Amino acid sequence: MKRLLIVWHSHTGGSRQMARAAADAARTENGIEVCLRHAPEAQPDDVLAADGYLFATPENLASMAGLMKDFFDRVYYPVLDRINGRPYAVMICAGSDGSGAVRQIERIATGLRLKPVAPPLIVITHAQTREAILAPKTIPVEELARCAEVGAGLAAGLAAGVF
Ligand SMILES: Cc1cc2nc3c(=O)[nH]c(=O)nc-3n(C[C@H](O)[C@H](O)[C@H](O)COP(=O)(O)O)c2cc1C
Repeated sequence: MKRLLIVWHSHTGGSRQMARAAADAARTENGIEVCLRHAPEAQPDDVLAADGYLFATPENLASMAGLMKDFFDRVYYPVLDRINGRPYAVMICAGSDGSGAVRQIERIATGLRLKPVAPPLIVITHAQTREAILAPKTIPVEELARCAEVGAGLAAGLAAGVF
């Protein structure tokens, strides 16, 4: 059995829906156990116990969400040099950009010697005004399908041992 760890945070629900879509798709793969963890709950042992990773977060102030950064801050040194070469992918929910959050996570993942196995997926919600940004998000089904593809691809690769 291979284990996929999905770590997520969300303020208005978008990244949570994206993470769940990826998790549901990954669970359909035989031989894969999916561990879906909200970032504040995720611990170094969760990271060590997983064979691959999916990180899902909104972009806030050109960065990953603070609680996602807190996750990396807490686990980085406990897992450093113990997860080298394991596969990962990133999904960002952003109002209009998302590239800052992608860059930050890629840099951290490089430090951890993780291997990117899918292009970063950015879902744009077009939330630009204060009202739109604060409103609960509903991610369109076609975007959730893209998230499902990422989850399914990670799971299939892990199950087949191709990463
Ligand atoms: C404090 C704050 C800062 C934000 N900064 C950015 C930003 O730098 N770039 C961007 O594209 N969107 C930004 N947004 C918009 C969110 O990324 C967008 O609303 C996204 O859909 C939220 O995802 P979530 O529903 O998972 O929380 C910001 C939102 C908040 C609340």
